[in-house]
Amino acid sequence: MIIAIDGPAASGKGTLARRLAAHFNLRHLDTGLTYRAVAAALLAQGLPLGDEAVAIEIARHLDLGKMDKNALSAHEVGEAASRVAVLGGLREELVRLQKEFAATPPGAVLDGRDIGTVVCPDATVKLFVTAAPEARARRRTEEMLSKGQEAEFASVLDDLKRRDLRDSQRTVAPMRQADDAHLLDTTEMDIETAFKAAVDIVSRTC
Ligand code: C5P
Repeated sequence: MIIAIDGPAASGKGTLARRLAAHFNLRHLDTGLTYRAVAAALLAQGLPLGDEAVAIEIARHLDLGKMDKNALSAHEVGEAASRVAVLGGLREELVRLQKEFAATPPGAVLDGRDIGTVVCPDATVKLFVTAAPEARARRRTEEMLSKGQEAEFASVLDDLKRRDLRDSQRTVAPMRQADDAHLLDTTEMDIETAFKAAVDIVSRTC
């Protein structure tokens, strides 16, 4: 069984993916971390984010089991990840790793931007999780403040909108809802309600 979850930043898709994986006893891959890991390595080496040859080399040596979610969670790393994510050759390399992960028994939950459209077009069930930009910016601001990071609602909202635009307008594998994906709009939902709705969709489909 493969559950494909896509959607914009701070839509709640990551939390849903993790909880669905635990609920259905599946492995989980946050594919955003793969783009973040490559971006963070380029930043650490002071290299341009458009250096595709080096980016591909970094991706070839990526160990999915060793990606440090906390170290990669910084706002700047997310921004940089969305810049490297436009590189077609890099995407090919990361998609190969992600497909391998998905194909390993007993199945998996993958979340990202192109899971239902590119990485797992034959997934058992596909969800496109979204929420109004203001709701997502509010959640992201609260999350950053709770971690002791600086955050201002207006600039978080601007950043999210800019990232959504870049992710949905790039030529290679733009973020979009797959034709056969179920839409889950979490604007008015807390995480518990969203989780129940997601379990419901998955159980009905499988
Ligand atoms: O989901 P997260 O915010 O960690 O993703 C960081 C960036 O990585 C996204 O803004 C997007 O540009 C890119 N990404 C992607 N395809 C995926 C997952 C993430 O292009 N499957």
